[in-house]
Amino acid sequence: MEASRRIDVDILSNPLELAESVADHMVELARAAIAERGRFCVALTGGNTPRPLYEAMNHPPRRNAVDWSAVHVFFGDERSVGPDDADSNYHMAREAWLGTGPIPEANIHRMQGEADNLDTAARQYEALLRRETSGAEEAQPVLDLVLLGLGADGHVASLFPGTCALSENERSVVANEVPQLGTFRITLTFPAINAAREVWMLVAGESKAARVAQALGHASGGDLLPVSGVRPVAGVMRWWLDEAAAGQLSTGG
Ligand code: 6PG
Repeated sequence: MEASRRIDVDILSNPLELAESVADHMVELARAAIAERGRFCVALTGGNTPRPLYEAMNHPPRRNAVDWSAVHVFFGDERSVGPDDADSNYHMAREAWLGTGPIPEANIHRMQGEADNLDTAARQYEALLRRETSGAEEAQPVLDLVLLGLGADGHVASLFPGTCALSENERSVVANEVPQLGTFRITLTFPAINAAREVWMLVAGESKAARVAQALGHASGGDLLPVSGVRPVAGVMRWWLDEAAAGQLSTGG
C-alpha cells in the first residue's frame, strides 16, 4: 500500500471551532463532488467527537448550502446493536443530524449491527457500497470522504489493536471480533478507507494528545498503532485537531 500522498494538519482552538470549521469544509467538499460527479458519498465516524460536527451540519446556512438529494451517508463502523440502541453510531448521527436533517432517508445507509450474522451483514454492506459509490458491484468502492476518530489505543473505525480486520487487504467491510471489548463490530477495512478521495481524522481533547503525536511522527511508536494503516492511496489525509489534542506536537508543526 503506497504512503499517503499528502497530510494536512489543521488546529482549531476548541471542539466547537473544530466542529464549525470541519462542517464548512465538508459542505465545500460536498458541493465540489456533486458538481464534478453528481453525488457525494461520505462515511461517518462514531464516538463522541463528531457529535458537534453533525449538529453543526444541521444549522443554517450549511443546511441550505448543498443539494442533499445527491448526498449518500454511510458509516465507518457499527457496534453489534440495533439502530435504536444508545451505543449505535447510527443512532448518535440520527439524533445529532440525520433524523432532522435534509438528507433523504433512502440515502442514509446504516450498517445492520443487529444482524444475527454480522459477516453476511458486512458482505451485504460492501455490495451496497460498491453499487452506490461506483455504480457497479464489482468495482472497488471509492468514497469521497471517510471521517475517522482516534481511539485512546490508536484505533480507527473498529480496527482495534491485535484484531483480525487489521490485516484484511481484500474486502472493504468485515465483521471484526474485538476481544478487548468482548464484542463484535462491523467495520470498513484499510482498503476501503485508503481508496477514499479524502480521509479526515477528527480528534479533540488532551487525552488524545500523546496518540496524535505518535501518529504524526512527533513521538515514537506511531507505526504500531492501527491509525498508521490509514494511508490514502491517491487521496488526501487531513487531521482536524483542537489545541488540546495537538498539545504534544512539536512546534515545528
Ligand atoms: C466508534 C468509532 C471509534 C471512535 C474512536 C474515538 O465506533 O466508537 O468508530 O473509532 O472514532 O473510539 O471515539 P471518541 O470520539 O468518543 O473519542
